[in-house]
Amino acid sequence: MAHRIARFTTLATTCAEALAMGVCVAAVGWGMHLIPRGAPVTTRPPMSAAGPMGSMVMARPVPARKAAMPTISVASLTGPGAAARVRTFTLTARPARLRLGPGVVVDAWTYNGTSPGPTLRVRQGDLVVVHLVNRLPVPTTIHWHGVTVPGGEDGVAGITQDAVAPGHTYTYRFVVRDAGTYWYHAHQDSLTQVPRGLYGALVVTPAAPVPPQSMRDDVDATVVLHTWQIRGKDTLAANGTTGLLRIPARPGAWVRLRLINTDVDMRLVTLVGAPFTVAALDGHDLHGPHPLAATLLPIAAGGRYDLRFRLPAHGAAGLLLADDRRDAPLRAMPAVAIIGMGSFLPTHAAPTHAHGLFDFTAYGTPARGAVTLHTRADASYTLRLGNLSQHGFSAVAHLDPVYTINGKAAPDTAPIMVRRGQLVRLHIVNESGYVHPMHLHGHTLVVLARDGRPLRGSPVTLDTLDVLPGESYDVAFRADNPGIWMLHCHNLYHARYCMSMMIMYEGVTTPFRAGGRAGNVSD
Ligand code: C2O
Ligand code: CU
Repeated sequence: MAHRIARFTTLATTCAEALAMGVCVAAVGWGMHLIPRGAPVTTRPPMSAAGPMGSMVMARPVPARKAAMPTISVASLTGPGAAARVRTFTLTARPARLRLGPGVVVDAWTYNGTSPGPTLRVRQGDLVVVHLVNRLPVPTTIHWHGVTVPGGEDGVAGITQDAVAPGHTYTYRFVVRDAGTYWYHAHQDSLTQVPRGLYGALVVTPAAPVPPQSMRDDVDATVVLHTWQIRGKDTLAANGTTGLLRIPARPGAWVRLRLINTDVDMRLVTLVGAPFTVAALDGHDLHGPHPLAATLLPIAAGGRYDLRFRLPAHGAAGLLLADDRRDAPLRAMPAVAIIGMGSFLPTHAAPTHAHGLFDFTAYGTPARGAVTLHTRADASYTLRLGNLSQHGFSAVAHLDPVYTINGKAAPDTAPIMVRRGQLVRLHIVNESGYVHPMHLHGHTLVVLARDGRPLRGSPVTLDTLDVLPGESYDVAFRADNPGIWMLHCHNLYHARYCMSMMIMYEGVTTPFRAGGRAGNVSD
């Protein structure tokens, strides 16, 4: 445990060199690899004004190969046209000058003039319709991080759509299958667009039955953590404020706090003032979570933690940032948010130091019927995460601009081909010196084991799995959502340089490609 913690903060991203070198940008080459020769190509139906560059690839239909299975275009995998409950939103991507705190001003890219963009609150089973209006000077898209959207609604430029040109509008439609905490962000040149402010929270509340009174939340609040570069300095903001975020709640209230990390590095936080449970990870409820006191919570880049707690009769709870001070007394950790009225950390009963590091492999209680290490998988793959110098040699730390999967840099990483219905196992081994928050689109990963040891507590389902140096994980996903899906590191530097690969369903093709007139940059 101790060495798990020790590794966190020594591994800050060092990608300045990588940026300067402009090495293998994955986006330059995906299209070539993804269009099977001879595959018929269709384009997205003109249901949304994708602009004049809707059908830029392969005008000439080509005869299918002999005995080839029928193919469909990823663009045809869209959400339904109608549903019992429809929630419609318009997100206008546009520049705006934001005031994050006294004297703290940034020229941001925003949705509807704010960053985070509006929190989209919908109910499980709703059809969500989002009109993206692009008023940026550059093309953009929106990806629904963690949501199992249909293949054509995934928002990956050059894979599932063309980037939406300035002045144009594009519509996403998807039914939200699972309740939980998710987020949305640009997936066109995300390395530029997400840090500049193009992200927001997506909260899916459970459909009926409504939980019993004892499980109801009086306050349901979202805290979106984001680091801004301000005058060359990293500055953390919560819900767009660099000051202290105040979340009103009355004494004794039950609170659900949905923490979202939009950064490229892990964030270490803790809650003081009340014992709390980790109710959900990446939007998926944990089974039998037990109360924790001032435990350090490592939130992966792109990951989410739902905390649940009851405010005391007197005093408040505080969300503290422990990043560089995990060994410091709690009172030395800067507060990000205060929940309730008054102050926290007041009494003799409160812990003075943080109590260890949260470990999801041993939290809560096992549940029946879960997929485990013993469940038979239909296919298994090993993914070795590594890095190379730009000359192709294994690199020493700080000189490695290229992050690889099985020794390959995108777009040369081999795709995994899956068939609908398969249970697919992945053995992910981190042989590099960096933390890699591995994110799978369109599916969720059931975590089976870390370093070969099965989970001892609750089943855990994630879409963003932090793999630390030297660690290995066994995970599984059910191939139940046809499409062409990215599996990539959510450290967006690593994704760009070039830790990224595709999970492809047999028979699904894409008419889109990297670059081109739309200027698609998939990561
Ligand atoms: Cu949150 Cu491929 O991204
Ligand atoms: Cu990485």
